[in-house]
Amino acid sequence: MKIGIIGSGRIGSTAAQLFAGAGHEVAIANSRGPDSLQEQVARIGGSALATTVEEAAAFGDLVLVATPLKAVGDLPAAAFAGRIVVDANNYYPGRDGAIEALDEDRTTSSELLAEHLGDARVVKAFNTMHHATLGSEGRPDAPREERLAMFVAADDAEAKQTVSGLIEDLGFAAVDTGTLADGGRRQQPGAAVYAKDLKLADAERALA
Ligand SMILES: NC(=O)c1ccc[n+]([C@@H]2O[C@H](COP(=O)([O-])OP(=O)(O)OC[C@H]3O[C@@H](n4cnc5c(N)ncnc54)[C@H](OP(=O)(O)O)[C@@H]3O)[C@@H](O)[C@H]2O)c1
Repeated sequence: MKIGIIGSGRIGSTAAQLFAGAGHEVAIANSRGPDSLQEQVARIGGSALATTVEEAAAFGDLVLVATPLKAVGDLPAAAFAGRIVVDANNYYPGRDGAIEALDEDRTTSSELLAEHLGDARVVKAFNTMHHATLGSEGRPDAPREERLAMFVAADDAEAKQTVSGLIEDLGFAAVDTGTLADGGRRQQPGAAVYAKDLKLADAERALA
């Protein structure tokens, strides 16, 4: 699959390495531009590309967004049209500034991203697991019960299925938490499964 990655920090760079290692083509972008990414793409190796945000979004059949939440309003929505967009972001008011609709629980951060992008198929995933765990704990050869769970929420069933397949290929057990509204709340900071390393059965118990 062709995967665009927006954000080359802890989550973006870890995911880029994993996706490339699993045989996907990756294009990665950050706020500083492609020149700042040359060393990183050399480390990733293969066909990895350093691009602008617009190019990474247009490149991907699937696009991972791994920036601070406060940056998503700057994303060029047209470049994401029709794409499966994986939202790894979380809302931390101290970092992102207060967002009243989230503070009052009127919506979720992924619904705000979906609203901004308009025509993208947003899936919330890769947001509950620490980047170091993501980088080291995938077990593609292990049965699902022995893997750590990674959670997926979306309104688009086909997009959710695609992202679940990607997660399973990396050696984690994909667990469906529901829609962007309900599942998104089950995956956000403070939720029972947030930032916990849970195997499949424990994850399902925590969600029940
Ligand atoms: N760290 C974790 O373990 C973890 C785990 C799960 C989820 N998350 C969530 O994932 C998101 C990213 O976290 P992180 O720890 O990876 O952050 P990080 O290390 O600070 O990296 C953030 C990246 O976003 C880029 N960025 C910022 N504004 C941008 C913009 N307007 N356009 C394009 N790129 C932009 C930055 O670009 P520059 O490099 O040019 O500054 C940087 O590469 C956050 O919402 C976080 O809550 C983090």
